[in-house]
Amino acid sequence: MDPRHVKLYIDDRPADGVFRVHRDVYTDPVLFELEMKSIFERCWNYLALESEIRNTHDFVTRHIGRTPVIVSRDAKGQIGGFVNACRHKGATVCRMEQGNARYHVCPYHGWAYDSAGKNVDIKDRKSGCYAAAFDAEGHDLIPVARIASYKGMIFGSLSANVPELEEHLGEIKFFLDLHMEQAPQGMEVIPGRAWYAYRGNWKMQVENGNDPYHETSTHGCFVAIQERRVKGQGNVEGRQVDWKKRAAADSGTFDLGNGHSSVWINCLEPEKRSLYPLLDAVRARVGSLKAEWMLKQRNAVCFPNLQIADHVVPQLRTIRPIAVDLTELRSYVLAPIGEPPESRAARLRQFEDFINPCGFATPDDITMFNESQQNLRTSGGEWLQAHERGIAALPAGSRGLAGELGIRPVAAVRGEFEMQPETATHAFFREWSRRMQAGLSDI
Ligand code: FES
Ligand SMILES: [Fe+2]
Repeated sequence: MDPRHVKLYIDDRPADGVFRVHRDVYTDPVLFELEMKSIFERCWNYLALESEIRNTHDFVTRHIGRTPVIVSRDAKGQIGGFVNACRHKGATVCRMEQGNARYHVCPYHGWAYDSAGKNVDIKDRKSGCYAAAFDAEGHDLIPVARIASYKGMIFGSLSANVPELEEHLGEIKFFLDLHMEQAPQGMEVIPGRAWYAYRGNWKMQVENGNDPYHETSTHGCFVAIQERRVKGQGNVEGRQVDWKKRAAADSGTFDLGNGHSSVWINCLEPEKRSLYPLLDAVRARVGSLKAEWMLKQRNAVCFPNLQIADHVVPQLRTIRPIAVDLTELRSYVLAPIGEPPESRAARLRQFEDFINPCGFATPDDITMFNESQQNLRTSGGEWLQAHERGIAALPAGSRGLAGELGIRPVAAVRGEFEMQPETATHAFFREWSRRMQAGLSDI
C-alpha cells in the first residue's frame, strides 16, 4: 500500500462489525519514520515519576521516540527536560540512567551544562579564537518544549503545539488515579527496573497490554503452574489467580478517546492483591468506588508510550521504538512510599514471577512478537483478523458502568472474561490514523 494513503491502513467500520489493520503498519519503514514525526515528536510522552528526581540536581535519562532526553530537577527545585545531545557535535552528554549531578560534562570535548541545561563552560574557550558570531549563539541544551506533571507523573512534549496535559490525558486520568492514589504519601518506583528489547514493531507491545485473548494460550504454561499451585504444589506463596474462577468473572474494555484505553477484570481473589492489607485505609481516603476499582485487575494504555498495568502488582511499562522492527521496554514496579519491608518483598516476588524478562510471561510474549514480525513480511492476507473479537458487544457496551465511574468513554464492552474482547485496541489505532493523516498533510 502507498504510505501517502495512510488512512487506508485502518478499516474502521464498527457499525458493520469491521475493524481491520493492514499488516504494513508493522513492517513499513516509511510509516515508521512518519510515526516518529507525527506521533512521538508531536505528543505528550510519559517520562518519569517526580519521586524519581526528589532532590535538586537529581536526574534520569529517557527517550521521546528516538530523541534522548535528560529529565532533571534544577538548583531551584524546578523540573525540566533537555535533549541529551551536545550542542557542539551531538555526543550524548549524560550516559547515566539516573543520578545526582550539579553539572553534566560532555565526554567528547568537555562542554559542561548545569542541571537546568544551561551551558556553563566551553573547554578552553579563551584560547579558541572564536569569533563574535559564536558568542552570539546560544549553547544551552535544547529544552523539551513542554513539561508537565499529573499526580506525580512527568510528561514531556518536543512540540510546544500540544493541548494542556490534562486535556490530552482526558478520561484516562481515572485509571492514572487508581495507580497513583494507592498510598497516602504517594507511590514510588522500587529501585531498579527490568529493561529489555524485542525484534518487533513497537505497536505489538501496545496491543498486547490490551489483549486478554492471548493469556490462556501464550501463557498456557503459567496457567498450568497456577493450577498446580492451587492444589498446593510448587511455590504456593507465588499463587496469583485461580484461572477456573477467572473464566466467568465480570470484565470489559474502554476506548477512552485520544488513543487511550483500558481493559479490566473483576478480581475474585482480592486477598492476593498487593493493596489488600491497606484496603480499609485506602477506602477511607479515596472512597469505596475507587478502592474497589484499585482491586480489579487493569491494564491501561496511555497513548503513545506508556502502559499502566495492575494485574499482578502496579507497574509502569514504557515503550521505546528504535526501528520498525526493534523496540525497547522498561518495566517499573510501583509501591507505596513508606511500605513495610515484608509487603515490599512480597510485591517484588509477585512481579518477578509473571512479568520480569526471566518470569513466566514476558519471554512468551516476546517470542510471539519476534515471530509475528518475521511472518508479517511475507505476502498474502493483507488485513489482519485481530481487532474484531467482541465487536458485536459494542452497542450494549458498559456505558452505564462508565457513568458510575464518572468517565465518558468513546466506546465500551462488558461481559464475562471468556469473551476476551480485542476492542480496546480500536482507541489506539483511531488516534494513530488521525495523527498519521495530520502529519502527512504537513509534509
Ligand atoms: S560533542 Fe560535546 S563537547 Fe564536543
Ligand atoms: Fe502476555
